[in-house]
Amino acid sequence: MDIYKFPRNFLWGVAISSYQTEGNNLNSDWYTWEKLGKIEDGSSSGRACDFYHRYQEDIDLAKKMNLNSFRLSIEWSRIEPTKGKFNEKEIEHYKNVLLYLKKNNFKVFLTLWHFTLPNWLAEIGGWENRKSIFYFCRYTEKIVKNFSDLADFWITLNEPVMYTGSAYLTGIWPPEKRSLFNAIKVFNHLVKAHKKAYQIIHRLIPQAQVGLAQNVVYFHAPQNPIDQHLSWIFNFFYNKLFYLLTKKDHDFIGLNYYYSYLVSNLRLAKKLRRLAVRSLKKKYIKVEIYPKGIYRVIKMFKKYNLPIYITENGLDDESDQKRPIFIREHLKWLHYGIKKGIDIRGYLYWSLIDNFEWQEGFEPRFGLIEVDYQTLERKPRQSAWLYAKIAKENGFI
Ligand code: FCB
Repeated sequence: MDIYKFPRNFLWGVAISSYQTEGNNLNSDWYTWEKLGKIEDGSSSGRACDFYHRYQEDIDLAKKMNLNSFRLSIEWSRIEPTKGKFNEKEIEHYKNVLLYLKKNNFKVFLTLWHFTLPNWLAEIGGWENRKSIFYFCRYTEKIVKNFSDLADFWITLNEPVMYTGSAYLTGIWPPEKRSLFNAIKVFNHLVKAHKKAYQIIHRLIPQAQVGLAQNVVYFHAPQNPIDQHLSWIFNFFYNKLFYLLTKKDHDFIGLNYYYSYLVSNLRLAKKLRRLAVRSLKKKYIKVEIYPKGIYRVIKMFKKYNLPIYITENGLDDESDQKRPIFIREHLKWLHYGIKKGIDIRGYLYWSLIDNFEWQEGFEPRFGLIEVDYQTLERKPRQSAWLYAKIAKENGFI
């Protein structure tokens, strides 16, 4: 019988983001965008799962699940609804949430930016505008000064590559652009914003642990050399480039892993005619759930010699039929990585609770806890208790 025992002090946790759970983020660019009827299931984030008012109940549930770490984000548009004017009441609100987490002994991963922008910044071009770096730094400084002793891990940006691709290449997120030129500009500003925020946080808290939550995909192409080359290129741009450009500015590696891409059926002539990434994605790449991929991608980051945390991994599974296996299989490969000498120190499941899944709306159900959106009642799914047992025993059989 195989026994999967994790190292002492391993972090077992969950991740959420402010916009997806709080609801009523009226001053955010996403809220404005939703109002244009952009969400696939016809919904709008509205009150979402109302974490804003129910955070104690949700944190209590995470505690009941024996978890020792919690990732959440701060909503910039709440803190700075008007350019340069910080809302002290909202700062107080987040302070209370963080204090409640601390009171319950959670290690806190605090994300400063998780995809959404204040309207005033979006109106002047968001991350396309060079000044966004300055504004992000000013906001970062404000947050860090206020919450310096309330976060254990600082995550500057969530998935900058995914954001650049979705907002500026495929154009499925606001501001719905499809332009390589703009994408490069945004990418470059995000790189600079991370580096500067890293310095600011360290100036204010010298011993801080600062990093990113980087979306990683395992690209593979078993079929032919052209596909294999293409897969190498995807891997470079999607997984590696942001880290290469910010090499010195990480105290840990945070990785969000969901799936692998099978790069196949490349027809070069066709591809050259249609360079739009959207069609590239549809025609040539197949998404698969592939637990071993988590090990494969982690191996790529071993060379940085930094502690690695899985800052997101999860499954949309309303019936909860597949989630227990999904969690166990990914954990098996993490355990294998640890056995092979990779310094993996924590796993945060996405998500604690069902929430608003960006352009897809409320249909996807990633939560360990089910939400009835009519009554806002919370009901832990079976996998919540499975995960609770794993956390309690620091492993499984
Ligand atoms: C990740 C995002 C997170 C959530 C999950 C399902 O890429 O960081 O906000 O949408 O996917």
